[in-house]
Amino acid sequence: MKTALIIGGSRGIGRKIALRLAKDGYDIVATCRKDISALAPLETDARNLGRNFNGLVFDIQDRKAAADALTGFFGENSPDIFIYNAGISRDNLMVFMTPEEWDDVVHTNLDGFYNTIHPLLFQMIARKSGRIIVIASASGQVGQPGQVNYSASKAALIGVVKALAKEVGKKGILVNAVAPGFIETDMTAGIPMDKILPMIPLKRAGSPEEVAGVVSFLCGSDSTYIHGQVIAINGGLVI
Ligand code: NAI
Repeated sequence: MKTALIIGGSRGIGRKIALRLAKDGYDIVATCRKDISALAPLETDARNLGRNFNGLVFDIQDRKAAADALTGFFGENSPDIFIYNAGISRDNLMVFMTPEEWDDVVHTNLDGFYNTIHPLLFQMIARKSGRIIVIASASGQVGQPGQVNYSASKAALIGVVKALAKEVGKKGILVNAVAPGFIETDMTAGIPMDKILPMIPLKRAGSPEEVAGVVSFLCGSDSTYIHGQVIAINGGLVI
């Protein structure tokens, strides 16, 4: 049975990706930041689908904790699918942005990728197969006022995907990003829809399931020649 690791699987988009990959036939390893009980509903759903499920708890900003948890679990093995979904926003105009708002976003969204892929990458390369999928953002494609920290971190992840794809493609590892626009989750709960909807040609927010469907495609057998790309999922917000 193949295994999918979802970094940040407790809720929102990550939870729906994990569920979709469980439906697709993958055993699931999901991580969360603080409390393993946050993964309990996902565990129930995955097991009901007949899949194995394991949960890991660590803060992705904590390099040692991430390495200990991931190498402790995978040992000499590696996941078939690595989904880097965890991310935060701390919005503010740049002129008012605090050092904490800057650091928290960059250390989570960007450094967290290094902290979680690096302990596993050697084994993935040695295996000569795998998929790495990063959840970036439309804000990283075009820049978003009030989100300089977030846009910077997501644009950096797009750079990560393009560079890493050139390193590991010859080892049989496909690396891609998806860039969601406005998706209804806890992260976007406080954002006034009347300000957002006029900018979206489809005149609605996206759902986490619509992101999960594209990730499922990128994990499957119909996407084996898609590599180093950024697939937008945004209802036309960025064209
Ligand atoms: P969410 O806030 O519902 O979920 C975020 C996930 O990241 C949670 O599972 C949380 O535990 C995990 N996480 C955050 N900081 C962490 C840390 N320090 N250590 C470990 N885990 C941590 O957010 P949502 O909306 O589901 O977002 C998921 C991803 O999609 C994020 O990377 C976000 O930037 C991205 N995204 C979301 C969009 C939206 O409109 N909701 C649009 C574009 C991108």
